[in-house]
Amino acid sequence: MRIGVIGSGRLGGTLGQAWGAMDHEVLFASRDPTQGSVVDLAVATRGARTATLEEAHAASDVLLLAVPGNVAEMLVRTLDGWTGKVLIDPTNHLAPDGSSNAEAIQRAAPGARVVKAFNVMGVEALERAATGNATGTMPIAGNDDEAIAIVSRLVNDVGLTPLHVGGLAMATSLEQLSSVWIAWSRTLGRRFLWDVVR
Ligand SMILES: NC(=O)c1ccc[n+]([C@@H]2O[C@H](COP(=O)([O-])OP(=O)(O)OC[C@H]3O[C@@H](n4cnc5c(N)ncnc54)[C@H](OP(=O)(O)O)[C@@H]3O)[C@@H](O)[C@H]2O)c1
Repeated sequence: MRIGVIGSGRLGGTLGQAWGAMDHEVLFASRDPTQGSVVDLAVATRGARTATLEEAHAASDVLLLAVPGNVAEMLVRTLDGWTGKVLIDPTNHLAPDGSSNAEAIQRAAPGARVVKAFNVMGVEALERAATGNATGTMPIAGNDDEAIAIVSRLVNDVGLTPLHVGGLAMATSLEQLSSVWIAWSRTLGRRFLWDVVR
């Protein structure tokens, strides 16, 4: 599938490269797609190219919003035409009232099919899974069954097992879980993964 990576930094770069290796068509989007780090990512990723935010948004059915949590909602509002698009939110930015960034993003793009995913572990852990050096479980939350199926496949494609934990209201719990990962990473190291063993 064609995946627009909005924010080609550490997380966007890691996931985009892993998806490219699985034969997805990745558009690495940036406010400045000519900058060296973004060009280098596209060159290093099979079938990838660079794009502006607007180009990637218009050309992709699936978007990864890998930008700082405090700009995500505003950025979504600047892009028109979200209806039907799968919008993956990996950000961690709980509001003062405890509501999730994912729900704020959904309100900003009512037609999008928002799925919370890839937020509960650091890139070091994701890289470990994507290179086949560890297994783990990625909890995801969202309301749309087809979008959940699409994101589940993309989780599988980076070497992790998806676990649909409920609707988007569960995103608050997942954003809190990321705080636990960060706290534990100080003693366990940033390569540790969550895994659900049944
Ligand atoms: N790093 C992790 O281990 C990790 C793990 C799970 C979740 N996350 C979440 O993933 C998101 C990205 O994290 P990251 O570590 O990849 O950050 P990062 O390396 O700083 O990359 C963020 C990217 O967002 C873009 N950006 C920054 N401000 C922007 C703005 N105002 N408008 C549009 N684009 C903007 C920048 O791209 P340009 O300058 O090229 O436009 C930058 O490359 C964060 O919300 C973080 O909480 C990170």
